[in-house]
Amino acid sequence: MAELFTEENDQRGDLRMKKQVLVYVHNLHKTYFSQKNGVSCHALSGMEFRIYEGDFIAVMGASGSGKSTLLNMLSGCDYPDKGEIFIGDRAMSKLKKKELAVYRRDEIGIIFQQFHLSDYLTALENIMVPAVLAEKEEKAAGERARMLADRLHIKNLLEKYPYELSGGEKQRCAIARALMNSPKLLLADEPTGQLDRRSSENFLQILESLNREGQTIFMTTHDPYIGSRAGRVIFIQDGKIYHELRRETEDREEFYGNIMETLSETLFAEQKTDGEI
Ligand SMILES: Nc1ncnc2c1ncn2[C@@H]1O[C@H](COP(=O)(O)OP(=O)(O)O)[C@@H](O)[C@H]1O
Ligand SMILES: [Mg+2]
Repeated sequence: MAELFTEENDQRGDLRMKKQVLVYVHNLHKTYFSQKNGVSCHALSGMEFRIYEGDFIAVMGASGSGKSTLLNMLSGCDYPDKGEIFIGDRAMSKLKKKELAVYRRDEIGIIFQQFHLSDYLTALENIMVPAVLAEKEEKAAGERARMLADRLHIKNLLEKYPYELSGGEKQRCAIARALMNSPKLLLADEPTGQLDRRSSENFLQILESLNREGQTIFMTTHDPYIGSRAGRVIFIQDGKIYHELRRETEDREEFYGNIMETLSETLFAEQKTDGEI
């Protein structure tokens, strides 16, 4: 990991600010082969970036650009063909099966577009699943679950089952579950995809407030409005990063404008290239 801490790699002053590299994604490649027709698809083609402690990153790209593939790699659900993900100073590919399971259980929390709550468990039981898997003491885990539920305004819904909850309530339940074991990194794959505007707004405000308290967040989205809530936006296309923006303004509308500008430049560049062909 020594090469991570050189001035050469310190392009944007993160190291000068003594921010810790939480995750280093190095030259990640992933190709999928279709069993049916043998056609290959380069889902990730040499992805390279760092996640610093306290970051709120939005990975933006169109459908099929590789967002979920990347997130699945970070969560240890899928593995690259080439390249490496370093978690602190540990290479993910070198982790033993049990170590990877512990990483997934204790160091990350994941939120999905489809919530992925169990309909057989109450909201409280769903929230407590990670603590149960980690064999945490039941009373303390219950207290933490209730504290999180209180904070996310779902305390009065804890005895309900997911099918009795609205989309926004389900997603808040999923956030509480993701935070149960105090993960270093919160991952979210198109988390507002199933939510209406109001629930999305509420969800984003929760993420912003968690991030202000120091929670590192890595989220994927195709929506520039959602992206504008992050501190860093990484733009991807065909499994490659082609641009990155940092929010250097408090003004969210201004940052949204910057994102739109990048997206429209990309669109025009594509049209120009298409025209040349
Ligand atoms: N399990 C898989 N098998 C074959 N192709 C896949 C698989 N998962 C993803 N892909 C392909 O990889 C590309 C990236 O997919 P994905 O990461 O899901 O994109 P996104 O989340 O940005 O919509 C797409 O072209 C998709 O069809
Ligand atoms: Mg996806």
